[in-house]
Amino acid sequence: MSAPTTASSEPYIHIAPSVMCADLCNLETDIRELEAAGINMLHFDLMDAHFVPNMPIGLALIEQLRPKTDAAFDVHLMVENNDFFVDAVAEIGVQQIAVHVESATHLDRTLSLIQAHGIKAGAALNPATPLSALDYVLDRLDFVLVMTVNPGFAGQKVVPATLRKIAECRAFLHEHAVDLPIEVDGNVSFENIPKMVSAGADILVAGTSSVFQKSGSRLENVQRIQQAITLGLTKRKNDGYQLSDVV
Ligand code: DX5
Ligand code: ZN
Repeated sequence: MSAPTTASSEPYIHIAPSVMCADLCNLETDIRELEAAGINMLHFDLMDAHFVPNMPIGLALIEQLRPKTDAAFDVHLMVENNDFFVDAVAEIGVQQIAVHVESATHLDRTLSLIQAHGIKAGAALNPATPLSALDYVLDRLDFVLVMTVNPGFAGQKVVPATLRKIAECRAFLHEHAVDLPIEVDGNVSFENIPKMVSAGADILVAGTSSVFQKSGSRLENVQRIQQAITLGLTKRKNDGYQLSDVV
């Protein structure tokens, strides 16, 4: 599946707000504001408090939200029992699922299970995990999730080496003739977005440092993200990713 493009053949960069960072006490209102700002994809972090020491949202929240919005559901599993959660969210109705290569005992089988459900399958890589972990599952992938923070918590700072990793992931996929979308997740801030997009990111998981920043409304923040995306696409077109972009 190659990265989507818009009518003007500009690459289309998805913005996927991270629901764990939303106002969970007024979630439906928050979702309506995001939809009004043009958001059509939502990122759900499912954690089991084992693979990562946190559990911000659960299956019930995804299930209750499903009938309330047409947005694509992008599920990021940070759990030990991947196959259980794959079946559970497939039952609810989601569009893509990323599983961590570090938690999947049988990664090939789990990715095949996701695709057997008719759902796009992604492999998520922690900052320290090399791209070679993807070597033998490239034919099972619909996207790659490059973690730009260590998973489990919102509000962290980007791991600097991951900016270079995004560019190296794009080159790695190109070398293997698989032009898959790259999703990035963690400190996707107004400042980092141009670097991430110029490096090759196609799906941005937006959290506390952008779409949910307290300084602006949801609409204002989405507009600021879109401006940052435009800057990144210009950089990508003109000079690609430069190591000097590392924070
Ligand atoms: C962390 C989650 C992210 C997180 C992003 O493990 O995968 O989705 O919510 O939050 P920020 O944007 O604050 O880093
Ligand atoms: Zn996530």
